[in-house]
Amino acid sequence: MRFVGTALVLLLTACASTSTAGLPAPEPMGTLAEVMRGILFPNSNILFDVQSADPGNPPPAAAGGGATATFSGIYAGWQMVENAAIALGESANLITIPGRRCENGRPVPLSQPNWAVFVQGLRDAADVMLVAARARNREAASDATNDVADACYFCHEAYRDAEPRCTP
Ligand code: HEC
Repeated sequence: MRFVGTALVLLLTACASTSTAGLPAPEPMGTLAEVMRGILFPNSNILFDVQSADPGNPPPAAAGGGATATFSGIYAGWQMVENAAIALGESANLITIPGRRCENGRPVPLSQPNWAVFVQGLRDAADVMLVAARARNREAASDATNDVADACYFCHEAYRDAEPRCTP
């Protein structure tokens, strides 16, 4: 009986070690504020634009200029909204990577139970947004922008507006 148990443990250990073999562990590159400015801010603005501009009728792509203008028509309209929702959902993963710091040098408060709740709120809002965008439903998507704004707000109220920032 004991032998079977040991064999099972060895087997499970072997599986665990081979499944991630060779993959580098996720590693933060920027501060939390930099991730917010680089990923959450621009993508949530794309979502908020759904309220004022119909993604079903995107403006014509601007010709000339730099890469951003030249390629602005490639993933436009509802696809751009879908992509922004996915970027926000993925950013929920990024802000749970261990080792990231806030701009003031304090660790991102990953161990606080409400951090997990706020991250899940962001993920859920991104999900609702993605479903609405895939359905090409502007009314539902506009409503979902309120969920997104709430998800940002609840966490900011607790951790961004705190003095100093990122303190429980
Ligand atoms: C789970 C918590 C959490 C969520 C959710 C969250 N934020 Fe943040 N955000 C923070 C914290 C904490 C800071 C301060 C980070 C620092 O000082 O390094 C911050 C900072 C920022 C900043 C930088 C402000 C500055 O100092 O320039 C922006 C922009 C921002 N957030 C946008 C957003 C947007 C938009 C959303 C929603 C789509 C969002 N955040 C969702 C916690 C969160």
